[in-house]
Amino acid sequence: MNNRTSYVIRFKMLFRKNLLLLLIMVNYDLAYSAVTLEVDVSSNNHTISPYIYGTSFFNDVEFGKEINLTVDRFGGNSVTRYNWKNDVSNRASDWFFENLLEDNKNPEKLPDGSMSDLFIEKDKLMGARSMLTIPLIGWTPKDREKRCGFSVKKYGPQNRTDRWMPDCGNGKKPDGKTLITGNDPADTSIKINSTFAKEWVQHLIKKYGTADQGGVLFYQMDNEYDLWHTTHQDVHPQPATTDEIIKLTEEYALAVKEVDPSALTLGPVGWGFVSILRSALDWTNRTSKDRESHENLDFGPYYLKTMKQLELNHSKRLLDYLDLHIYPQADNVFVDSADPEVMAVRLRSTQALWNPDYIDESWIKNMGEPNNRVQLIPRMKKAIETYYPGTKIAITEYNWGNLKVMNGALAQADVLGIMGREGVDVALLWGPKNATEPWAYAFRMYRNYDGKGSQFGSISVSAKSSDEQTLAIYASIRPSDKKLTVIAINKDPTNEIDTKIEIKNFDISDSTKAYTYSQNNLTKIVESIATVVNNAIEHKFPAYSITLFEVAGK
Ligand SMILES: *[C@@H]1O[C@H](CO)[C@@H](O)[C@H](O)[C@H]1NC(C)=O
Ligand SMILES: *[C@@H]1O[C@H](CO)[C@@H](O)[C@H](O)[C@H]1NC(C)=O
Ligand SMILES: *[C@@H]1O[C@H](CO)[C@@H](O)[C@H](O)[C@H]1NC(C)=O
Ligand SMILES: *[C@@H]1O[C@H](CO)[C@@H](O)[C@H](O)[C@H]1NC(C)=O
Ligand SMILES: *[C@@H]1O[C@H](CO)[C@@H](O)[C@H](O)[C@H]1NC(C)=O
Ligand SMILES: *[C@@H]1O[C@H](CO)[C@@H](O)[C@H](O)[C@H]1NC(C)=O
Ligand SMILES: *[C@@H]1O[C@H](CO)[C@@H](O)[C@H](O)[C@H]1NC(C)=O
Ligand SMILES: *[C@@H]1O[C@H](CO)[C@@H](O)[C@H](O)[C@H]1NC(C)=O
Repeated sequence: MNNRTSYVIRFKMLFRKNLLLLLIMVNYDLAYSAVTLEVDVSSNNHTISPYIYGTSFFNDVEFGKEINLTVDRFGGNSVTRYNWKNDVSNRASDWFFENLLEDNKNPEKLPDGSMSDLFIEKDKLMGARSMLTIPLIGWTPKDREKRCGFSVKKYGPQNRTDRWMPDCGNGKKPDGKTLITGNDPADTSIKINSTFAKEWVQHLIKKYGTADQGGVLFYQMDNEYDLWHTTHQDVHPQPATTDEIIKLTEEYALAVKEVDPSALTLGPVGWGFVSILRSALDWTNRTSKDRESHENLDFGPYYLKTMKQLELNHSKRLLDYLDLHIYPQADNVFVDSADPEVMAVRLRSTQALWNPDYIDESWIKNMGEPNNRVQLIPRMKKAIETYYPGTKIAITEYNWGNLKVMNGALAQADVLGIMGREGVDVALLWGPKNATEPWAYAFRMYRNYDGKGSQFGSISVSAKSSDEQTLAIYASIRPSDKKLTVIAINKDPTNEIDTKIEIKNFDISDSTKAYTYSQNNLTKIVESIATVVNNAIEHKFPAYSITLFEVAGK
């Protein structure tokens, strides 16, 4: 519940009881609604990376073109076990550890025309740069046959089986708790090393050119390595150690950079914020042994420090981006819950990305200080500054939940604003599909708010709200026409907010336009003329809305 809602409820209770208190509450309410907003064009300016407007596995080419989608990622659990030669991936714990054939009309032409080739060709149509996942796990599907990681015939009855392939179990005994151990990874897979990755990059260069020629730009060092022991329990049952992941990163990143020196690499691609604190081994086994044998540093700092040493050892940078995933951990936020309390937590919890004072409203709050404050981006920045300056920041999976409703669109718009303001270099929304849904309008507000391709500017400038949990504000200059663009997000579900934005160090003309996306129509951005008085924009922000102001200078 946000402050405003609680005031409203208290207001209703008091109404029945006490007129004097009622008057006090009205005063409170007036004071509260006076959210003040200020944009200062000459303060805090920095470039917003275009690569924060990205997705994973996005197939809607028309929408990609419309918003000038910048990055699309071939990533996720199944690509850790994707074999680019035979176009088969093992679906891991997502689907009964099965090797499944990708839909391929001309398998005799492989490796040409594989799912990954088609993915890159589709990205080229959209104008997006591709990010591929290099498998580091050491196993890949052995042939073009459907196969099971945990055959019931071979390993006995299991807790669940695939109704389409009943011999394939979920790797758990019928009690649903005991894992099947000692299985043979060779049931589905063959061993691979960095030669397999090198040959893939060579194949891609031959077809699409090097990164600097417009080919694949980004290569990730696998995916969520710190969950391999559960997601890929059939081939990597033990949690990965610090040494293992660093050795693999060295070997594979070197292989990529040898073949394409213009390509960019990302690692360790941890599953969440705790990935920067502990290695998979320490987190899983609830020990600190791994940490103690690595200078007693948190995993992220140790990883960065070592990557810096490796740059010296190999006379080239092996790692370009520190890469973590993040999902809100509070109950039901990362699902399609429309419960009002969950929706309020959804909007508040974007603070986990940046606010050093925000105590996470999930199990993370029990971690104790300072780790109950996620402050993901500042945390990543600090580790980089201390241990490996020049490394960039990537968040290659995030999703704040319920992309199909206005509440999810508000959170999405807030996240895009935060990524730009806080200086993230790559940010990719996980799992969006249908571009007629509200999440897509959150993107449109930044990437095509007028239906003519106009975008939020690329130079972030200072924008402050006295109550950013109710009315958040982000601002930027657009170098192409020197206009100021401002996005304001009213997170209050029921109340319009009548206030103004003071603009400093930029003389505004009267022709300022407002573009509004609101609950009134979830498939439309509405254009209007904004009111300018004394170099401020006066505006009534509708409840639950996103407004972009396109501000011309004098
Ligand atoms: C930021 O502002 C300063 C001072 O006005 C200017 O010199 C600099 O070029 C600006 N940086 C960007 C990225 O616009
Ligand atoms: C699309 O974004 C890229 C940066 O990723 C930029 O170079 C290009 O000019 C943009 N295209 C349009 C039409 O805005
Ligand atoms: C699978 O395990 C769960 C407990 O995790 C149990 O409730 C369920 O009954 C099991 N299913 C079968 C078919 O044994
Ligand atoms: C890597 O695998 C290839 C086969 O693809 C093999 O020829 C080579 O010896 C292996 N390299 C190492 C270091 O194991
Ligand atoms: C981690 O825990 C697992 C399961 O208890 C155990 O098999 C493994 O030996 C432990 N690893 C280390 C290095 O202590
Ligand atoms: C870098 O090379 C030195 C000298 O060969 C070696 O001692 C050190 O372990 C290497 N660093 C890493 C991170 O492998
Ligand atoms: C996309 O979403 C809209 C609005 O929620 C819905 O009407 C439409 O059926 C969806 N289309 C697909 C292909 O799912
Ligand atoms: C919302 O806007 C669309 C596009 O302009 C329009 O077709 C539709 O009728 C509008 N819906 C409502 C409920 O006004």
